[in-house]
Amino acid sequence: MAGGSAINRKPLGNTEIQIPEIGLGTWSYHGGIEPLRRGLDAGALFIDTAESYGGAEEIIKDAITGMRDRVFLASKVSSHHLHHNDLKKAAEGSLNRLGVSHIDLYQIHQPNPAIPMAETIGAMEQLVDEGKICYIGVSNFNLEQLKEARVVARKYPIVANQVRYNLADRTIEDGLLQYCQENNITVIAYSPLAREMSRLYDCDPNEVLTQIAKETGRTVAQIAINWCLCKDGVVAIPKGNSVDHVLENCAASGWRLSEEYRALLDNQIQSRRRGRLDKMLRNYMPASVVPLAKQCLTLLPRGIRRRLS
Ligand SMILES: NC(=O)c1ccc[n+]([C@@H]2O[C@H](COP(=O)([O-])OP(=O)(O)OC[C@H]3O[C@@H](n4cnc5c(N)ncnc54)[C@H](OP(=O)(O)O)[C@@H]3O)[C@@H](O)[C@H]2O)c1
Repeated sequence: MAGGSAINRKPLGNTEIQIPEIGLGTWSYHGGIEPLRRGLDAGALFIDTAESYGGAEEIIKDAITGMRDRVFLASKVSSHHLHHNDLKKAAEGSLNRLGVSHIDLYQIHQPNPAIPMAETIGAMEQLVDEGKICYIGVSNFNLEQLKEARVVARKYPIVANQVRYNLADRTIEDGLLQYCQENNITVIAYSPLAREMSRLYDCDPNEVLTQIAKETGRTVAQIAINWCLCKDGVVAIPKGNSVDHVLENCAASGWRLSEEYRALLDNQIQSRRRGRLDKMLRNYMPASVVPLAKQCLTLLPRGIRRRLS
C-alpha cells in the first residue's frame, strides 16, 4: 500500500474528479495524528469530519500538514446552522480549525425543515463562488429532501449524499440508492461497520461473514466494507481509532467480493430497513432526542406502533 495507490477511486458525483473509495471517518475520533497519517499514507486520501465532531478538525489540521493538496477534505455544517449567516460563519470556523483555505466537500449534516432549503443552498453556493468550498454535499437526506435540494441548487450540483449504509442497515435500498446512482450523486456510506462489529455479528446467525473471511483470506471488517464498495457510486468512510484498524480498513479496497459471496451476504445477513416513523424521527428531531423519543414509542400498543413504522 506504499505510495497510496492501493485504494481504488470513484468519481465524485458528475465532476471530473475521482476520490478514494475509502475515506477516514472521524466521529468520536480519539486516536491522535498517527492513525490518520498512516491511513493517508495507505492511500485513503479522503477525510470526513464535521464541525460537531469535537476536536476532530484540529487533529486533522495536524495530520494533513505538508500534504493538504493531496487530501480530499469533507466537513459538515450542523443542522442548527443552516440560516445564511450562520452557515457562512460555521464554514469559517471549520476552515480555521482545519487550517485550510478551502474545504473540498461541504455537507449539510442533516436537513432542518424549519429553515428554507433555498436559503441554505444559496449560502453554500456563495461559499463555492468565494472559493471556500469546492463542492456541495448533503447528509441524511431522504429521497424527497434530496430532490428538493437539487431543485433549489441552481448554480452548482449536489454531488454527494452521506447516509448510513452497511450490511445490517440497507434502508437506502428503498429507492434513495438507485436515485443517487441514476443521477450521479455519490453515496458516502457512513457507519459501514454498523458503528461496532458486534452489530454485524448479531445480524449474522449463520456466521457467513466469518466463513467468507476465512475463505477469502480477508477480515470480517474488510468483507463488510467491500460489500458497500461493490455498489456503483458508493464510497465508505469507516472510523478507526488505531493504526491497526485503519490499515485493515484501507485494505478493504483494491479487490472485489465475488457475485456468489455478495449473494450469500445479501441472503443471509438479517438486515433491516428503517420504517417511516424511525426515518421521520431521525430527520426531524435533534439526534440527542431520538433515543428518548423511541423509548417513549415503545409504550404505545403494538398495533399502533406497527402501523406507524
Ligand atoms: N453524517 C452523519 O450523520 C454520520 C453519522 C455517523 C457517522 N458518520 C461518519 O462515518 C464515520 C464512520 O461511522 P461510525 O464511526 O459511526 O462507525 P463505523 O465506522 O461503522 O464503526 C466504527 C467502530 O468500528 C470499530 N472498528 C473500526 N475498524 C475496525 C476493524 N478493522 N475491526 C474491528 N473493529 C473496527 C471502531 O473501533 P475503534 O474506534 O476502536 O477503532 C469503532 O468502534 C464516522 O466516523 C463519521 O465520519 C457520519
